[in-house]
Amino acid sequence: MASVAFEQVDKVFAGGVYAIRGLTLAIADGELLVCVGPSGCGKSTVLRLLAGLEEVTRGELRIGGQVVNHLPPQQRNVAMVFQDYALYPYLSVRGNLEFPLKMRRLPRPEIRRRVEQVAAMLGMTELLERLPRQLSGGQRQRVAMGRALVRDPAVFLLDEPLSNLDAKLRVQVRAEIGELQQRTGATMIYVTHDQMEAMTLGDRVAVLNQGVLQQVAPPQELYEHPVNLFVAGFIGNPPMNLFPARLVGAPQGRLALQWGEQQAPLSAAPAGWRAWLERPLTAGIRPEAVRVADAGTEEGILTTVVDVEYLGHETLVKVRPGPAGADPAMTAIVARLSGMRRFDRGDGLRIRFATDRLYLFAADGGVLTVSEAMHEPGL
Ligand SMILES: Nc1ncnc2c1ncn2[C@@H]1O[C@H](COP(=O)(O)OP(=O)(O)O)[C@@H](O)[C@H]1O
Ligand SMILES: [Mg+2]
Repeated sequence: MASVAFEQVDKVFAGGVYAIRGLTLAIADGELLVCVGPSGCGKSTVLRLLAGLEEVTRGELRIGGQVVNHLPPQQRNVAMVFQDYALYPYLSVRGNLEFPLKMRRLPRPEIRRRVEQVAAMLGMTELLERLPRQLSGGQRQRVAMGRALVRDPAVFLLDEPLSNLDAKLRVQVRAEIGELQQRTGATMIYVTHDQMEAMTLGDRVAVLNQGVLQQVAPPQELYEHPVNLFVAGFIGNPPMNLFPARLVGAPQGRLALQWGEQQAPLSAAPAGWRAWLERPLTAGIRPEAVRVADAGTEEGILTTVVDVEYLGHETLVKVRPGPAGADPAMTAIVARLSGMRRFDRGDGLRIRFATDRLYLFAADGGVLTVSEAMHEPGL
């Protein structure tokens, strides 16, 4: 096994397309790193650079401390599992598993030993003589994993390996991949566009957007302390509510969040808040941090229910600020409440934000603060 390091790596394709820009990222020996981002953000390119299928334009790429920029793929000892598995259709499972070892001219008994060991590990000893078309999607996925594993690679790369499986199988195989990684101690880079998959699988998750690394952190830190608007909006389902707002002075020397015509008092303020007073900002609040006030209260922001989703264990209520018939251009937000709660469209609802769960983003998308940095405003 080996560590991996990207150092200021750029990948520019013909025609000047920057697929990757200034990527600096270190992956420890034995770590499972998940790389996530929307389609076209450069995830596959990251893997293809490591595997040697594409050449780095600028910067340095290291595997196990060795610079590999100009090393051909065969000399990198990196195994890649592709989205479509790319199995040889006319070879049996055994033939597919043997293939990479035959290419390396390993002795026959050694090939046999490795293939059977990996087949046993993946629970597919009974499938060894079948052809790929005689396998289910999940089994084919396992053969593709096996073909990578037999090589005993230093680094294991998986490019959206579950996207051809149905939802239930995806959860099962995802858990298997996690277990396999722990059992083998392999250094693994796993790429997906699915933030749920990333959050449940990764020790650390790297978020990529338009070829630029946004943040790399354990799942919980990404969720609680996103560094910018992109990460805040990408991680989490239902997504974080984001809406235009301003910080304003309120009665009694307090600070408030101005949202449309209404103000929500804040019990704390971002560090350096004075510089942001009255400036246009984007406010962010996760659906579970939106509180619904008791009926009859005059406190909190008045909203109108525009939609309700009853999910059994929780209820998602979509509300728009203001009384019924208020400005439809105002951004509606979602509150996530536990249990079954009864609401009707058009109901008036008072809501509050948990101040310590409120995020504020500047026009460039950078986060103004995280909750720990909040302190008493004292205007
Ligand atoms: N061989 C290529 N030539 C030119 N542009 C490419 C090539 N491969 C990928 N790209 C571009 O690079 C960007 C990143 O692609 P890719 O790494 O495949 O994204 P992802 O895997 O995240 O969907 C995209 O804009 C894509 O169109
Ligand atoms: Mg891709």
